[in-house]
Amino acid sequence: MTATTPVLELVEVTKHFGAIKAVDGVSFAVMPGECVGLVGDNGAGKSTLVKIISGYHPQTSGSMQIQGQRVSFASPSDSRQHKIETVYQDLALVEQLDVAANFFLGREKYTGWGRLLRYLDRKVMQSQAREELQRIGISIPRMRATVSELSG
Ligand SMILES: Nc1ncnc2c1ncn2[C@@H]1O[C@H](COP(=O)(O)OP(=O)(O)OP(=O)(O)O)[C@@H](O)[C@H]1O
Ligand SMILES: [Mg+2]
Repeated sequence: MTATTPVLELVEVTKHFGAIKAVDGVSFAVMPGECVGLVGDNGAGKSTLVKIISGYHPQTSGSMQIQGQRVSFASPSDSRQHKIETVYQDLALVEQLDVAANFFLGREKYTGWGRLLRYLDRKVMQSQAREELQRIGISIPRMRATVSELSG
């Protein structure tokens, strides 16, 4: 890897949903430190492209490289391992759940046997969520409060 290796590079990526060509041969590179915007009409394929990059949809053809290494993602957790994360334009919070449950939505922590038994490690999630929020200067008086009970 050199200083000019793209952080992310897509080559001729396509995505078909049956007869619909949602993404049709997209190629671009993102260099270190670059902030790239993706612009297009409604239905142009922006969201689909983001979903491919974040491992939610497999592409129909084309390839993706991260720091010069070819990657293929079977799931969002694969793309997360490469430090790819999607931040949605709406808050995308579940109002009925507390802060920690929202924080770990889709990447919940389980106790020892919990993954098998679907038993969540709420204590660990609460304390890690609190630590991360404190790190960015947000203090939540009551971590058990549901999102609907909190102000903006
Ligand atoms: N899961 C799906 N199944 C079938 N077709 C889909 C699916 N997701 C998206 N499409 C189609 O793919 C095309 C691209 O949609 P996409 O949502 O990626 O566009 P977009 O650029 O994000 O649009 P917008 O600006 O409205 O958000 C559209 O024709 C859409 O109907
Ligand atoms: Mg969209």
